[in-house]
Amino acid sequence: MKNELESLLQPYQQTHVLQFWDELDAVAQQSLADQIRAIDFEQLQTLAGATGAAAKWDELAAEAEVPPAITADDFANPESYRAACEVGRAALADGKVAMVLVAGGQGSRLGFEHPKGMFPIGPLSERTLYHMLIDQLLARGEQVGKAIPFYIMTSPPTHQETSEFLADNNYFGMDAEDVTIFCQGTMPAVDANGKLLLADKSTIFTSPDGHGGTLGALKRDGCLDDMKARGIEHVFYGQVDNPLIQACDPALLGYHIKSSSEMTSQVVRKHDPMLKVGNVVVVDGKTQIIEYSDLPDQYARQTLPDGSLKLWAGSIAVHIFERSFLDRTSDQADALPFHQAHKKVAYVDAQGKLVKPTENNATKFERFIFDLLPSAKNAIVCEVDPADGFCAVKNAPPAPSETPQHVKDAVVALHTRWLEQAGVTVADGVKVEINPRFALDVEQLKEKIPTGTTVTEDKYFEPETV
Ligand code: UTP
Repeated sequence: MKNELESLLQPYQQTHVLQFWDELDAVAQQSLADQIRAIDFEQLQTLAGATGAAAKWDELAAEAEVPPAITADDFANPESYRAACEVGRAALADGKVAMVLVAGGQGSRLGFEHPKGMFPIGPLSERTLYHMLIDQLLARGEQVGKAIPFYIMTSPPTHQETSEFLADNNYFGMDAEDVTIFCQGTMPAVDANGKLLLADKSTIFTSPDGHGGTLGALKRDGCLDDMKARGIEHVFYGQVDNPLIQACDPALLGYHIKSSSEMTSQVVRKHDPMLKVGNVVVVDGKTQIIEYSDLPDQYARQTLPDGSLKLWAGSIAVHIFERSFLDRTSDQADALPFHQAHKKVAYVDAQGKLVKPTENNATKFERFIFDLLPSAKNAIVCEVDPADGFCAVKNAPPAPSETPQHVKDAVVALHTRWLEQAGVTVADGVKVEINPRFALDVEQLKEKIPTGTTVTEDKYFEPETV
């Protein structure tokens, strides 16, 4: 078997992965052989040799405009907003909406030893990210009288623990029939010389293949067929780390449906040209994202006559897809491009010792879901104020942003504002947190708490307190 593997690896100069072969027992040898045979070495060689096409971004950015947009003004217009909500609510009530959550990332920056969705983020409730999101989906479902099917994408490193955690917690009140956990694929990483890395003597290091792996995984695991059988038409997509996400928001769904959009992206308005979010743009009629690192400064800084940024639409990785669009594109899931990410990867060196690098030493290859945008008909963007809908937990303290404390503060700030808009006073320094099953928005709060009430001590508004 060793000879056969050597001849497979030789043309790609990857025979070093067999360096501990003779020390391995038969089971480990078989496992390593299976891993080697599963790798597409032609593809890996092409990816490892690829360099960024810098010139392309200049050309694209010069032509870029913001796609058709539903702006904050539209959301603030009572007539427009009400009409959108009606359409969105009808789709929810008819059972045409599902939620897909991507939770296959390894959360390396947060340094939490479990899958990120298990992180306790509720500022007072200490609910986990999963619990907070499921409460939202349950509340939406209760509001319209129809449960929202929930599809969670894990990856080999997060799958088992996530599945056990959700099952042990009875899916936080969701019907198990409505929860599908599916697992994304992986990709090997390479070092600066394009060589595979060994995680241990018999394991080639691989990592999840990016959130763009969602499309292929949805297809492979039968989720798209399941959605079709359930009558799902609109798929709300979000990431596990943003507890402010307006999951399956009726207005957002309504604008998406009314625009006959195949893919709608929620965006924040950039005021700082250097804000580190992908820029949603349209070039030659095709919508796409230019990452902040690829957008040349001069184009990032372009302004309109009123002084605002021309390319203002920053992606927050919340999208709505038509299920038929995912179906149509799923055959080409393998054609989505890979992007390179430079990361620290621990590896076993030639002496068999585990090396934990302090600098980036490896290139990982990831697909991004937003690369579906150019294929979508009538793609639009919908603006959201980040204070209302976006604050992701990414970093461990003492990072200057996106730490758990920042996110908790953002939840408290939003819920304080809701209470104040509902005519409730929140005393200075008092923290509040609202479970969406108590109230999903200001309107529901007004029905629950008498105007003129003052909250004088930290309070978590739970469904039981109704
Ligand atoms: P990030 O790029 O922020 O990665 O993922 P991460 O894993 O959460 O954190 P770091 O970079 O290792 O610190 C954004 C979202 O995409 C999901 C993540 O779970 C998160 O919800 N994701 C990322 C996947 O589902 N699969 C992947 O392969 C990568």
